[in-house]
Amino acid sequence: MNQPVRTIGRGAAAGAAVLAVLSLQPAPASATAPEPVVGGTRVAEGQYPFMVHLSQGCGGSLYAKDIVLTAAHCVTGSGANTSITATAGSVDLQGPNAVHIKSTQVVQAPGYDGKGKDWALIKLASPFELPTLPTVTDTAYDKGTFTIAGWGSTSEDGAQQRYLRQATVPYVADAQCGQAYGTQFHAEDEICAGDVDKGGVDTCQGDSGGPMFRKDDQGAWIQVGIVSFGQGCAEKGYPGVYSQVSALSADIRAAAATLN
Ligand code: ARG
Repeated sequence: MNQPVRTIGRGAAAGAAVLAVLSLQPAPASATAPEPVVGGTRVAEGQYPFMVHLSQGCGGSLYAKDIVLTAAHCVTGSGANTSITATAGSVDLQGPNAVHIKSTQVVQAPGYDGKGKDWALIKLASPFELPTLPTVTDTAYDKGTFTIAGWGSTSEDGAQQRYLRQATVPYVADAQCGQAYGTQFHAEDEICAGDVDKGGVDTCQGDSGGPMFRKDDQGAWIQVGIVSFGQGCAEKGYPGVYSQVSALSADIRAAAATLN
């Protein structure tokens, strides 16, 4: 969501103060590098056709042609819901190829209380004629380098984006992620990724609910994570935290079967 509801330990005022201090320093060499998501590049039209933008200011992926997988913290509860507009079919949210479809129903993860289980499904009034993004069913792909993408901010407290952006981030082990986040990190159903030593690349506000994905052994894209939360964005020492799809796939599949 636009509001950093799950950003930890940083109010808007504190963030602004930090930015003010940073702006007094000479621009680092990396300031000229492309920034996405934080630290990324523009996505080519059609490159990730399963990417969805949600009108409440979140991302998502096509779980089925008429079902969007997103984060639990991007929705307000379960039941009939015609208030969400899903946009897909273009990297440009305002472009001529963008297709907009309304929601009919939402399933928020049963038992969601802000501690893990950060997933939800949104049923659409009609299908997108676009490819879906398969989800992992075991931990075999919970490692390596992941792609992240979204229309969220390109810096902490930055603006939402009109054009889809992407970056790649390495897997971060549970032990290291736990050192950063303590009890806020739930190893049983969360997976972390980012450059812990240097920072600089991450998802950010507005990317929530979008997929973290990689290639499977056949070379096809497969979803491993759902953007959930982080300390600010791209901060050194604080990787992004993602819902671990491998731990949640059975629950997600059961919920999808109830949507009709
Ligand atoms: N909670 C944010 C949202 O609602 C996503 C934050 C991701 N943060 C991060 N540092 N990876 O959009």
